[in-house]
Amino acid sequence: MIEPKEQSRQAHEAFKAEFERFNNLSAQTFTLTEAEGLQKEIAELRIKYTGKKSEIAGLNRLVGQVAVEERAEFGKLVQSVVAEVNQSLNEAEATLKTFIESAKIERERIDVTLPGIRPRQGHLHLLTILRQKIEEIFVSLGYSIEDDREIETDYYNFDALNIPEGHPARESQDTFYTTNGFALRSQTSTVQIRAMERRGVPIRIIAPGRVFRRDTPDLTHTPMFHQIEGLCVDKNITMAHLKGTVGEWLRRLFGKETRIRLRPSYFPFTEPSAEFDFSCFKCGGTGAFEGERCRPCKGSGWIELGGSGMVHPNVLRACNVDPKVYSGFAFGFGLERMCSLMYSLDDIRLMFENDVRFLEQFR
Ligand code: DAH
Repeated sequence: MIEPKEQSRQAHEAFKAEFERFNNLSAQTFTLTEAEGLQKEIAELRIKYTGKKSEIAGLNRLVGQVAVEERAEFGKLVQSVVAEVNQSLNEAEATLKTFIESAKIERERIDVTLPGIRPRQGHLHLLTILRQKIEEIFVSLGYSIEDDREIETDYYNFDALNIPEGHPARESQDTFYTTNGFALRSQTSTVQIRAMERRGVPIRIIAPGRVFRRDTPDLTHTPMFHQIEGLCVDKNITMAHLKGTVGEWLRRLFGKETRIRLRPSYFPFTEPSAEFDFSCFKCGGTGAFEGERCRPCKGSGWIELGGSGMVHPNVLRACNVDPKVYSGFAFGFGLERMCSLMYSLDDIRLMFENDVRFLEQFR
């Protein structure tokens, strides 16, 4: 049997060896998780070395078996070992506890001066904003808003609009075709036909929407763009109504002083036909702005906007409307062109590139 003193020394040594790595805790750095792990290990060491089944507890039980004259001395020895072990454990535990507490406070600290996470706020696209403004004006003039299909048959895109096969206007409005004979509409004028078929006459509608043409993208062209079509058919509608209506919505959009002019033109689905211009919103029609040539109107004082005219009798007939009883006017214009003039954009492709740095500027 090993001598009790030696037994106690060995037990103490074993503890010291295992405790070695906890000796200098306050000089070390660790993460919160690491510190919590160490704390657990200390608790395990405490059980291992001071628990009921530990060697050190066994030493206490040995005291009674030691010869009487040596008992007091051995008892003291055991006590000092127990005290040292406990002290080491307590110190390490206290260090870890302090560290863990402050690490947790650090982790949970909220810097109330930090900027919060702002939800990104979206907004409407500049084309949508303009379209809605124009829609509101027309609704207040008693027009309804008509939405219709973007994929059309040749009949609605061309024939019903008085553009028979072989007509040069088909060429100038070349669009995209599907393999089974459908076409992406090249103009919103198709809605004139659809709307009259559906609603009959009298009718007052505007039809905003996407149109498609086989154009190579450049500063002023994209193969997809937007138009707004207007149609008014009733008894006794004349060109004066056309001029009055076009003038009125442009005045509401650009201001009371806006003037318009109609220039004779040609469209297959109107007779007579006219292009409409309005006095420049920037220079007020003078052609000069701040002493320089005005940009949107290129110094002319006028901005060319769209096409218009009195609905061709053939178009009315295609919709079963008697041209001897009814007459009407129609007009159409492109939204992108209008937008780029209003906002001085050099490149209409910007409107479709979805770059928020560009779009954000137009709320
Ligand atoms: N659809 C024509 C175009 O795309 C514009 C147009 C001209 C529409 C005359 C009309 C109109 O309604 O009467 O160029």
